[in-house]
Amino acid sequence: MSEIAIIVLAAGKGSRMKSAMPKVMHRVAGRSLLGHVLHAARPLGVAEAVIVVGPDMDEVAVEARTVFPGARTAVQRERLGTAHAVSTARDLLSGFKGTVLVLYGDGPLISSETLNSLVRMAGAGPVVLGFEAKDPTGYGRLLLDDGGHVVDIREDVDASPVERMIRLSNSGVIALSAPLLWQLLPGIGNSNAKGEYYLTDIVALAASSGIPFRLAICDEGEVAGVNDRVQLAAVEATLQDRFRRHHMLSGVTMTAPETVYFSADTEIGQDVSIGPHVVFGPAVRIETGAEILAFSHIEGAQIAAGARIGPYARLRPGTQIGVNAHVGNFVEMKQATLGNGAKANHLSYIGDAAVGARANVGAGTITCNYDGFEKHRTDIGADVFIGSNTALVAPVKVGDGASVAAGSVVTRDVPEGALAISRPALELRLGWAQRLRQIRMSRKSAMKKG
Ligand code: UD1
Ligand code: MG
Repeated sequence: MSEIAIIVLAAGKGSRMKSAMPKVMHRVAGRSLLGHVLHAARPLGVAEAVIVVGPDMDEVAVEARTVFPGARTAVQRERLGTAHAVSTARDLLSGFKGTVLVLYGDGPLISSETLNSLVRMAGAGPVVLGFEAKDPTGYGRLLLDDGGHVVDIREDVDASPVERMIRLSNSGVIALSAPLLWQLLPGIGNSNAKGEYYLTDIVALAASSGIPFRLAICDEGEVAGVNDRVQLAAVEATLQDRFRRHHMLSGVTMTAPETVYFSADTEIGQDVSIGPHVVFGPAVRIETGAEILAFSHIEGAQIAAGARIGPYARLRPGTQIGVNAHVGNFVEMKQATLGNGAKANHLSYIGDAAVGARANVGAGTITCNYDGFEKHRTDIGADVFIGSNTALVAPVKVGDGASVAAGSVVTRDVPEGALAISRPALELRLGWAQRLRQIRMSRKSAMKKG
């Protein structure tokens, strides 16, 4: 198969998003719209990726390079139409002779399988991706000849009443050889209702040169585009349903899947169980047999086999949970590791810290990692016992096997095997409580009588 280049059109401002951010930077399932499109194309083995952006869209270039390190951007200064947008990529692809796949940056639901079959077909001539629209309003309509070739695409605004009845619609995605693309593109004009250079006109030009486009068909669900935030939410919902299904079919148990939210990159091993109302931000990996209980929020975390998280746990970026470790309710962790079999079961903050294997972090323990200016580390060794309501004032180390008594404020390193206690001496005043109660009771009854 010949080499593949993608051109992703993303120069539109997306004014209906009503946003200071370019449309393709909006996120669904923890990933930008552009990121989804690029990820769908990645398995094709893309040799060149050019993203067509508008002026002042540097963040889009940065985003593209996180998925394709070699991705380049072409700037379309004036938005003169999709054909004009493609032509801005020409210089960057001047030496490229393989298959060009043109994609839209705001269509995040397109699948790798569909793109793959499209570029395979394109080895034998140009291909356009179409779909049967339930309601084709707004889409270009595909006009076929008797042999089933696509001979023209009529934009909705330019279509006759009869053409408007056609439901076979243009997804916008095409694949064709680079030489053919650059040969046909200059022939496209702008005498149409919008006065734009339509890429879709390439189809009629190809047909009249005797190299008609063939049709590939995909499901309408794959071509839904995002133009406003209502559609953004609809796409989010579609993706979430896809991920829920995918994880369940891969062996993950979910009691209420409709309440669980994934990121596109969430990785979950077999026999993991996930309770209701769990949210996964980007970069989470969970290994076999771990259990995530209800109402947990997890982002940038790795959770090893057999661990139990939640209910109501919050794991922030840089968290690593060891095998069979437990993180309980209202425990927050950030840039922290919890060793194998270690436990932090209740009401704690563990940040910029390492907790050794089998250590027990008592309820209400806080790593005081921030002094108002800088962050500092806390290192807790293996088999350590930290009593409830301990404040560990970082930087500080607690050696293996040490214990810290409840209520302590630990401001110095605790050597291996030592006991640290820091608390005011306890005073006991025998009988005082009883006497106080008698005095108060007799005062109260005197007041009632009076
Ligand atoms: C386009 C197709 C239509 C198809 C529909 C599918 C054309 C002329 N029409 O219409 O047949 O049914 O998509 O959704 O192609 N863009 C640029 N520069 C431009 C113009 C557009 O980069 O000058 C980008 C946009 O950011 C967007 C994409 O190209 O990502 C498509 O443009 P859009 O204006 O949304 O085209 P539609 O009218 O939806
Ligand atoms: Mg559109």
